[in-house]
Amino acid sequence: MSQATPSQQAAFVCPSLPEDAFATDVLAGLGRTPKSLPSVWLYDQRGSVLFEEITGLDEYYQTRTETALLGECAAAIADVIGPDAVVVEFGSGSSRKTPLLLDALVTPRAYVPVDIADDFLDGALATLARRCPGIPMLPVRADFTRPFHLPPQLRNTRGPRLGFFPGSTIGNFAPAQAAAFLAHVGKMLGPHRHMVVGVDACQDPAVLLPAYDDARGVTAQFDLNVLVRINRELQGDLPLDAFRHEARFNAGASRIEMHLVAQRAFTATVLGHRFSFAAGESIHTENSYKYGQTEFRALANSAGWDVERVWLDARSRFAVYLLCPATACPPAPLPPAP
Ligand code: TRP
Repeated sequence: MSQATPSQQAAFVCPSLPEDAFATDVLAGLGRTPKSLPSVWLYDQRGSVLFEEITGLDEYYQTRTETALLGECAAAIADVIGPDAVVVEFGSGSSRKTPLLLDALVTPRAYVPVDIADDFLDGALATLARRCPGIPMLPVRADFTRPFHLPPQLRNTRGPRLGFFPGSTIGNFAPAQAAAFLAHVGKMLGPHRHMVVGVDACQDPAVLLPAYDDARGVTAQFDLNVLVRINRELQGDLPLDAFRHEARFNAGASRIEMHLVAQRAFTATVLGHRFSFAAGESIHTENSYKYGQTEFRALANSAGWDVERVWLDARSRFAVYLLCPATACPPAPLPPAP
């Protein structure tokens, strides 16, 4: 497993991630109609590297917009949080935005990156440990879309805790799952909790479609990589050249959908199970929901959080929210109209 450098601990492997979770999800996902796969499996080592490349693409406005916003709001966030906070990042990936927060916070007590791609986690953390020396790094290898736990050394500690969930990854959950996730995280972080969440707010298909289907085809490779992975890890024989990546904007659901569309009919085998594909049939690999402020506030409220502050870019494409615990007493109902 992971090779710890002196500055970091070996990842705490969260016991809730079963060994055969990938196989179980793939067999179930290819067996249902319409076919779909949980997007968490896009992020193996190669997937994580390709996703990093996506974040630097001209078409993918989200990363640079959010990074600029975080630069603007980090000091204000640090003022609210105060000293000695434990920072927990969900789906930390390259942890590239993390220093923006860690540098602003006063004496952060520990940084806990949670990610499924453990090789990638190791490399990213070694870089971060050099960049932010003196902050204990306590990595957790877990699929944060399932219930998971903080590393044991933090479980009975007090003090402020800051959840960090950038990258509009919240949009990759369906709204009900996003609410369940926020509620679970709220319980895990405890009473002195805050959360910083990056949320894509853009609703313009002319901007969104290229962001999820770029001219150089990096996003297509990223999406197709899940098939490469199935063939390698699950003895699959899916014909890679028979699939095409497609991004679709579903205005009714306010989401971008990623699909791998079969260009011809064929059958393929995975772990000895046969699956038939019709020409034009797709595997739905990802959703990316977009939220206006009213919608996101309602989502947060339903999960026990209030919006303490929100920062938007000049074009209102992307929002950074600072969430705090919802007030124990719900606001009094409005008096009846006279
Ligand atoms: N959280 C990112 C988003 O929704 C993930 C993402 C970006 C993504 N590009 C993608 C996922 C392409 C699948 C395919 O914007």
